[in-house]
Amino acid sequence: MEQTVDVIIVGGGVIGCSIAYHLSKRGIKVRLLERGRIASEASSAAAGMLAAQAEFIDSVPLFDWARQSRAMFPALTADLQAHSGMEIGLVQQGLLRVATSEEDVLRYHAQAELQRQSGESAQWLSAQEALALEGTLASDVYGALYLENDHQVVAPSLTLAYASAAAALGAEIREHSEVQELLREGGRITGVRMQDGIHRCQQVIIASSIWSQALLRTVGYDLPLYPVKGECIAVRTNKPLIRRTIYTDNCYLVPKANGELLIGATVTPHTMQRHVTVGGILALMGVAERLIPSIRGATWIRTWSGLRPQTPQGLPYIGNHPELAGLMIAAGHYRNGILLSPLTGSVMADLVEGIELAADLTAFQVPAMRWSKDQEMTGVGI
Ligand code: FAD
Ligand code: GLY
Repeated sequence: MEQTVDVIIVGGGVIGCSIAYHLSKRGIKVRLLERGRIASEASSAAAGMLAAQAEFIDSVPLFDWARQSRAMFPALTADLQAHSGMEIGLVQQGLLRVATSEEDVLRYHAQAELQRQSGESAQWLSAQEALALEGTLASDVYGALYLENDHQVVAPSLTLAYASAAAALGAEIREHSEVQELLREGGRITGVRMQDGIHRCQQVIIASSIWSQALLRTVGYDLPLYPVKGECIAVRTNKPLIRRTIYTDNCYLVPKANGELLIGATVTPHTMQRHVTVGGILALMGVAERLIPSIRGATWIRTWSGLRPQTPQGLPYIGNHPELAGLMIAAGHYRNGILLSPLTGSVMADLVEGIELAADLTAFQVPAMRWSKDQEMTGVGI
């Protein structure tokens, strides 16, 4: 039996759920199809940092997007609460990018200067000043860059709240619903095929992270994406060890709204293996202990891993497919999908409505790359 709707979204991670929420707010009839549970992949593994300044050193295209998206969180928190009744654990304490060498000090000073020129708050703190803010920091740190607006949320809660708010606004959210292939009629995508039959729509939006590539290949196009595994740890202490996120290149510690302290994350490209390794945990705990020595007394809670979706250019694909009408993509948000989710959802909704976009998409264009089964056999394009 055929089932029709305005827009089909494939993928119930933070990106698909944000798009569903933004479209539903505008009265557009949406069906979101998720093969597992909502937030079952990267969007439940994420640390939830809104690290627009800590993770983007200078004015790469994503820096402006990141700042614009970060600014949407206070209003979004209230709106999601109003529609879903759910809290997303927004903690507005900022972040300390801690220097552990002279080289870090030079780098972070330069970073602070560039960010101040962009109108952002970025304050250099001596070691003494950093210790005055976070008394459990190791006394031999070289100082810290205080980014008072890099806040954090609870990533799975955000994703579930988007989905729940979208449902309250009329979206159909279907879990355990895997899309097997896209339906193509000439130069147009007209729907998707699932086990229960064909679902037709005006617009298909692929928000399926690294699995977006396999879906595009069902209609003869490619979309280069690869996984970057990240492992994390959660511990608990009787009294919070820190109030602000502590961030270095190799490890970050994020004090969550529920009292847990999240320690992340490893970076292992090109693997689909999800197991958490002893080596990964030792590496993270080694740096965490050097930064906050008293973490030795914390109680172990759990470990997990997730697959970040990365692209060869290091920029997500956001927008219309250049050759297939009726098809849009939002995938490849790598380390910042939580942070970038509000703006991505809002701009995708602008595109569906055909109105002026809230942000520039030039840097995030979807490539027009053909794909054939022969390439798979010869290994070309893998
Ligand atoms: P996903 O969450 O992976 O969702 C894609 C969904 O598509 C999945 O649920 C999958 O089941 C579904 N799907 C796939 N194929 C199909 C199909 N054929 N049919 C139906 N459904 C399908 N970002 C931040 O902003 N801040 C952070 O602090 C942060 N920390 C991170 C820490 C770690 C350890 C990791 C791994 C990531 C972190 N990230 C962070 C990055 C962030 O998690 C990702 O960028 C984001 O979750 C990607 O969202 P997504 O919706 O594109 O993908
Ligand atoms: N943004 C943090 C991470 O991906 O680990």
